[in-house]
Amino acid sequence: MYFTKDFLWGGAIAANQAEGAWDIDGKGPSIVDVAPNGIGIFSNVDFEMDPEKYYPSHEAIDFYHRYEEDLDLMKELGLKCFRTSIAWTRIFPTGEEEEPNEKGLEFYDKLFDAMLEREIIPVVTISHYETPLHLINKFNGWESKEMIPLFEKYCRVIFNRYKNKVKYWLTFNEMNTIHRIPYASGAIRLRGSIDDELNIIYQASHNMFVANAIANKLCEEIIPDAKIGIMLALSGVYPYTCKPEDVFGSYQLRRRSLLYADVMIRGEYPAYFNRIVKEKKLSLDITTKELEIISQYPSKMLAFSYYRTNTYEDGMPIIGDTGGIGTRGNPYLPQTEWGWEVDPLGLRYVCNELTDRYNVPLFIVENGLGCIDEISENGEIHDNARIDYLNQHLIQLSEAIEDGCDIIGYTWWGPIDIVSAGTGEMKKRYGFIYVDKDNQGLGTLERKKKDSFYCYKKIIETNGSILNQFKDTKINKSM
Ligand code: BG6
Repeated sequence: MYFTKDFLWGGAIAANQAEGAWDIDGKGPSIVDVAPNGIGIFSNVDFEMDPEKYYPSHEAIDFYHRYEEDLDLMKELGLKCFRTSIAWTRIFPTGEEEEPNEKGLEFYDKLFDAMLEREIIPVVTISHYETPLHLINKFNGWESKEMIPLFEKYCRVIFNRYKNKVKYWLTFNEMNTIHRIPYASGAIRLRGSIDDELNIIYQASHNMFVANAIANKLCEEIIPDAKIGIMLALSGVYPYTCKPEDVFGSYQLRRRSLLYADVMIRGEYPAYFNRIVKEKKLSLDITTKELEIISQYPSKMLAFSYYRTNTYEDGMPIIGDTGGIGTRGNPYLPQTEWGWEVDPLGLRYVCNELTDRYNVPLFIVENGLGCIDEISENGEIHDNARIDYLNQHLIQLSEAIEDGCDIIGYTWWGPIDIVSAGTGEMKKRYGFIYVDKDNQGLGTLERKKKDSFYCYKKIIETNGSILNQFKDTKINKSM
């Protein structure tokens, strides 16, 4: 196996899917706190909290009160790094306060200290679907340029506060999913015709590009030894057949996602974007000064999530990102219980694609299998499908490193069961650690190790070399 000595083996969660304590110690509501069944494509979000309803983020897995115990488990697992987000509304409850909420800042001080005491490096997402609810209701989120100074203030506060503790930062989680889940990624409500909607999406994206560049600038000034990168959903897309229209269409669809890295890493809008503007009659407010800052402060690290690959067939709409939108299915690949194709080789393909295009360090900050876990009579959880998924993806990741890709780390999504972002469910489990809680919110919250816990532990201990044993195993068709 080709993992470097200092490879960042890790796990990743998001504040809103784990912490709970949604209104404790001064925290304000974020957009996820009013989403009763997640922020995915089929979710119905409320814009005001309904006291009669159950909202999964309100308690989640109570990481806010149990992080010490959970980090002990992460230490036992052998994690070198742990990715989580800062909940923006713990720091600025509405987003508009002049002064930050000290209690919120203290919580993350304790959390990062607890990681460092265990020799686990924090990797921090600044905004993971956690925009203050107030800002969507007042400004329609990132459609408005008012968001830029508010985000800048938030970044300045957290960079100054945690500059000695956090050296890996990611700006926006999966920014390109704004096409599929605009509410979550852009904190926007769409209106008007499809072209009007696209206009709002691209205006919001542009405003976030500017905010990303400003965050890069601040980080460079305040924490010069830190690495700050973008985070995109870059699960892959293949043409459904070799029919040229399928091939070119899948390329067009892919570029709807790569546009985000094109702008933020290369520092300028690519030529193909002009055609989108012309054909969709977009009218965007983009100033010369903003283009200058985007070009002056490009991102130097590309972090991404990879779960699956999709297929594109001629005639399907070219909208959205490629990380989970509808697909024709792929006769060569098994699917998960949630209909996601499992494609380990696709991960190698995507790493190579991104290296060829950007030639920057890559960080796989989400990859994982969400499935239903059965507890056996003696209380054990034999999650073999998850073990296969893990092994096969890591084998392909190692191949990508040997291909020449500069891959600095891998953080498994949800090393401990957390609330599903897409559906708000608990039964869609990713963890190596089981959490006793169900979709209705019932359960003791007790933590329990699954078989996959011991598997990932061994992989980390051997720096991946144990994976050689599984090289000839194939992923089971019926996962
Ligand atoms: C990514 C998100 O899109 O996918 C995570 O960044 C999310 O927040 C993960 O949890 C898996 O999706 P889901 O819907 O299965 O939780």
